[in-house]
Amino acid sequence: MQTRTLGLHGPTVSALGLGAMSMSGAYGPADRGESIATVHAALDAGITLIDTGDFYAMGHNELLLAEALRGRPRDSYVLSVKFGGMGGPGLPPLTQDCRPAAVKNFLAYSLTRLGVDHVDVYRPARLDPAVPIEDTVGAIKDMIDAGYVRYVGLSEVDAATVRRAHAVHPVADLQIEYSLISRAVEAEVLPALRELGIGLTAYGVLARGLISGTFVPGRAGDARARSPRFSGDNLEHNLALVEGLRRIAEAKGRTVAQLVIAWVAAQGADIVPLVGARTRERLAEALPAADLELTAADLAAIEEALPPGSARGDRYPSAFMGALGVGN
Ligand SMILES: NC(=O)c1ccc[n+]([C@@H]2O[C@H](COP(=O)([O-])OP(=O)(O)OC[C@H]3O[C@@H](n4cnc5c(N)ncnc54)[C@H](OP(=O)(O)O)[C@@H]3O)[C@@H](O)[C@H]2O)c1
Repeated sequence: MQTRTLGLHGPTVSALGLGAMSMSGAYGPADRGESIATVHAALDAGITLIDTGDFYAMGHNELLLAEALRGRPRDSYVLSVKFGGMGGPGLPPLTQDCRPAAVKNFLAYSLTRLGVDHVDVYRPARLDPAVPIEDTVGAIKDMIDAGYVRYVGLSEVDAATVRRAHAVHPVADLQIEYSLISRAVEAEVLPALRELGIGLTAYGVLARGLISGTFVPGRAGDARARSPRFSGDNLEHNLALVEGLRRIAEAKGRTVAQLVIAWVAAQGADIVPLVGARTRERLAEALPAADLELTAADLAAIEEALPPGSARGDRYPSAFMGALGVGN
């Protein structure tokens, strides 16, 4: 597995990271044994970056990772943990609490659930509109000074917020949705990251499965059913777009998922795609994307098949869109 370094200030990690969110039921039921086997297979294949959030099924995801990571040397993996999402029993995290006292409180719980003495990259999942980002990052800096965190990360914020955060403490990376159908990051955020020497961990590189070439609608408990991109006519339109990608992938002897993961990776050596594999089969399909080199002609053909703006529907339900630093 090749490696990439998260900006000038972050850790060196595998060229693909593993996102664990769907192992806790975001896209329908997940099998615990298979999830743990998938984490083991990822580590054995050289993946070192593992992403979670304390609110992924309210601690379930961290407890699962603790079990999967038990016995592995602590310096053999890099844990990225998001915090701040406030939900309730049966309620998704709709609001944020990123006050300094809350940051330290969230971290203490995460360390216990994960069974580790430090988190590598610690990041607010969203900006808390009631708390200046300087205060939130200041609290993470305190935790770095105390040895409980290694790096500051950010998630789904705009370029101005990145600059303010970076002025308090060097930021390792911004985690943000980036795929062939979510390119808003390219206008202002990505240039700002590059100017400041900050890496980007891209999530939703498969647009949550929509452009993976294998999306199966109608799973019970699948949160994507509430997403405009996965609803009604939008879904039909968006899935039809994928057929152009399938032709390109097949001509190269690749799968659609490999092609679109590799497209994100090709946007810069400062970008690390996260893949949301929760089974060994999906992981095995994703891994070769790390070594898939796309030519300029490949990239042009891919973008012609799925030009910016061609997908229909927002990337989040309307109640969640306001919390994002950039649009679609
Ligand atoms: N910072 C943020 O705000 C934020 C938000 C969302 C996610 N994330 C992070 O990013 C990670 C990835 O996000 P995601 O899961 O939403 O998006 P994703 O990686 O774009 O999509 C995962 C979906 O694609 C499907 N898929 C098809 N082929 C695949 C393959 N070869 N490898 C992996 N998945 C394949 C999966 O299928 P199956 O359903 O069959 O498994 C799953 O439904 C999350 O686990 C989380 O750590 C961060």
